[in-house]
Amino acid sequence: LEAFFTPKVLAGRKVLLTAGPTFEPVDPVRGLTNSSSGKMGYSLARACAHAGAEVVMVSGPTGLPAPDGVRRIGVVRALDMRDAVIAELDGVDVFIAVAAVADYRPEASAEHKVKKSGESMTLTLVPNPDILSEVAARPDAPFCVGFAAESRDLDTYAEGKRQTKRLQMVVGNLVQDGLGTDDNQVVLYDADGRHPLPRAAKGELAGVIVSAIAERFGRSLL
Ligand code: CTP
Ligand code: CA
Repeated sequence: LEAFFTPKVLAGRKVLLTAGPTFEPVDPVRGLTNSSSGKMGYSLARACAHAGAEVVMVSGPTGLPAPDGVRRIGVVRALDMRDAVIAELDGVDVFIAVAAVADYRPEASAEHKVKKSGESMTLTLVPNPDILSEVAARPDAPFCVGFAAESRDLDTYAEGKRQTKRLQMVVGNLVQDGLGTDDNQVVLYDADGRHPLPRAAKGELAGVIVSAIAERFGRSLL
């Protein structure tokens, strides 16, 4: 029923998304990660498929099943996510980066389990590539959408990310706005400014965001 009533605003389009956290191994049994359920990315992927798109999702570890009509590529580290994204870019019209990518990874991951010594220890971290910035900087870049979950100064950070990463659109929210509630408040940032969306149930938000993306993507072709 839902599929029947959803206008196929992305028919004939290819959408690539990243979703979930990345996991950066320290040793065979430990690692660094971001807390991210992957729910938003998976909901958006499903909504893109309902809107008629061919959908590929590169996902970190979430335990969630791939939504119907979505080809899911499972990855662990940010470096693997970057490689998978670059390998899938051919023919992509819209790239939506929802993943909570670890900004840093251990410089080296130990082959064997690290044993405690009782002394303090130092873990050296090196920066991971910014996948979204890399995609948006390509000469043949697709329409690029980023997400910004901030704890303060949402307008400054979200619009800053849109400009620095050269994105068509950023979906921003204040993390405390959606914590422990069934609905969420998001703000869209594009070249025309900021557009707060009405508070919506979390289950409905993906559809609203995909409509907003499809509308702007359509306009970008004119
Ligand atoms: N992103 C990405 N690759 C990274 C880091 C972020 O593709 N290595 C993407 C995210 O998927 C999101 C957007 O960039 O769409 C913003 O991510 P965020 O973590 O909020 O921004 P950062 O640029 O990493 O800045 P900071 O964490 O310092 O706020
Ligand atoms: Ca980050």
